[in-house]
Amino acid sequence: MTAPIVEMKQVKKRFGYIEALRGADFTAYPGEVTAIVGDNGSGKSTLIKILSGGLKPDGGEIRIKDKAFSSLTVRQAMEQGITTVYQDLALDNCKDCAGNIFLGREIMKHRFFLDHKLMRQKTRELLNRLQIFIPDITQPVEKMSGGQRQALSIARAVYAGGDIMIFDEPTSAMGLKETSRIMRLFLELKKEGKTIILISHNLFQVFDIADRISVIHNGLLVDSFLTKDSSPQKLHEMIVEKEEGMTDEEMV
Ligand SMILES: Nc1ncnc2c1ncn2[C@@H]1O[C@H](COP(=O)(O)OP(=O)(O)OP(=O)(O)O)[C@@H](O)[C@H]1O
Ligand SMILES: [Mg+2]
Repeated sequence: MTAPIVEMKQVKKRFGYIEALRGADFTAYPGEVTAIVGDNGSGKSTLIKILSGGLKPDGGEIRIKDKAFSSLTVRQAMEQGITTVYQDLALDNCKDCAGNIFLGREIMKHRFFLDHKLMRQKTRELLNRLQIFIPDITQPVEKMSGGQRQALSIARAVYAGGDIMIFDEPTSAMGLKETSRIMRLFLELKKEGKTIILISHNLFQVFDIADRISVIHNGLLVDSFLTKDSSPQKLHEMIVEKEEGMTDEEMV
């Protein structure tokens, strides 16, 4: 059997009195699309922020490609090939598309000056290649629509590269056409051999593209299975059942 590329064990994270993760496990295999599903506040974003170095866990172990970590910095995660599209997108609102795509890796000319023209040209090429349509790429991203901003964040991740790509609800603000384009892009990335971790509330989307599904509930992994062994209906029932079975204490 193939060895996991990512393995998180007994990961804990507390925010004040909220126990966001209570010893959660998570495993992803190389070249697969693994979906993480679970209700609001169940700890999905917290889990992937820990994996991408954005948050320091209070306990547990993380293994990425045979390297063990008790916590990671953003740089260490990047060195392990992790690229993340965060739920809140982490865009610089004052900058335009090119300014965001090239954030932290700006192209310079004559050593000291930013080459805006070249960065815009490369941004146009990238967006065209990914079939992302943004009418005016020179306006600050704060003026763009929610779906356009999500598309831009995905483009930035594709440009950044990395062989483990994490997407936290990447199409929640997108229309049907744009969403299906992004789903096709994910499948292309998979074909290139990338490992994809996708957080989504859209169970049909999850069943369309994921190889494996992990269900997080109340800060714990409650189930993990191959997509082909389940159905959107079964998974829906499972999530709703968990929600209904929660005690008042767990609801806090
Ligand atoms: N920075 C923070 N400070 C305080 N509490 C936080 C912080 N981040 C997350 N939490 C809390 O931790 C819990 C888990 O949050 P998390 O964002 O991981 O949930 P989620 O599963 O991603 O939910 P959603 O589906 O709504 O995005 C929630 O109760 C949330 O309020
Ligand atoms: Mg979230």
